[in-house]
Formats: sequence, structure tokens, C-alpha cells
Amino acid sequence: MNHLYLCGFMGCGKSTVGKQLAKGLGTRFLDLDDYIVEKAGKSIPEIFASQGEEAFRDWETKCLSELSQKPRMVIATGGGTLMRPQNVQAAKESGKIVFLDIPFAECYRRIKGDENRPVAARSTPEELEALYNTRREVYSSVCDLSVEQVLSPMETSDLIIQRVKSLG
Ligand code: S3P
Repeated sequence: MNHLYLCGFMGCGKSTVGKQLAKGLGTRFLDLDDYIVEKAGKSIPEIFASQGEEAFRDWETKCLSELSQKPRMVIATGGGTLMRPQNVQAAKESGKIVFLDIPFAECYRRIKGDENRPVAARSTPEELEALYNTRREVYSSVCDLSVEQVLSPMETSDLIIQRVKSLG
């Protein structure tokens, strides 16, 4: 255990930074969405379409709980994962939460029209910005440290490693 959980809005770079971070720490990297797809045997858009969003949220809770029990990893959570207090608790009990805090405009540039992200695909830019603002408050309040990702993924990862060490 003692995982590092990366959180932040869709498109903030959790997977890119997470892979770099895992390399730097010599641990495994795992993307929660990929794990869900493997377990469910369906893509994220297929889960949303055939079972609905609540069922996807249940998959997140179940899979996060499983991963929380495994040996140390860097885990990229989904943008909505930490909206469930139960998931925050599982993350807090098994590691530290790192928030990649980057501006909405940058996230939006990366996610607009992405059919693999049902929440982005179904929302207007205004709705996404409102969601970003609501979620940003949650990420900020639950994280152990936040990083404004103005640096390259490698520099961001180095900074996280330094700052995580000082958390003890
Ligand atoms: C979601 C974010 C996605 C994925 C799903 C729902 C969300 O993950 O979990 O499409 O509600 O923000 P990323 O944040 O990795 O895009």
C-alpha cells in the first residue's frame, strides 16, 4: 500500500504525469479507468450507455477498493472518482492524494469532443466549466498536496516526489 493517488479534472494529465512518477519511484502505474475496462469487459462509453453512470460509479468504488489493498502503486483516478466520500476514505487509508491543478481552459482544450469521455461528450462548455469549479473545490479539500502543472510531466513528477517525501 502507501499508494499515490493522482486526482484532477479530465485532461489534467493524470496518466502522463502518473507514468513518469511511477518510473521515478520505481513502482507500478495503474489507470483506474483501464482497470475498470478490464474488469467490466466493456469500454467506459459502453458502461455508461448500457448500465448508466451510477453503475460506472459503482465500478469505480469497487475497483478502487480492490486496488487500495494491493502493493504500492501510482494510481490515476478518474475525474469523478473522488466525488464519492467512500472513495476518498479508501484512498486516504491506503496512501496520499495528489491534485494536478491546471486551468479549465487547458483541460477543455484536451477533452473537447472526446467520445471516450462520456461526461465531456454530453456536456456543453459551460456545463463542463461549472463541473470543473465544483470538483476543484473537492479535489483541493481532500488532497494531501496540490501541484500547479505549469512544468513538463518529468519536472512535475520530480516536484511531486520531493514534496511527497516531506509529507512523511
Ligand atoms: C470521468 C472522467 C474519466 C472517466 C469517466 C468519467 C468524469 O476519467 O473516469 O469518463 O466523471 O470526470 P479521466 O479523468 O481520466 O478522463
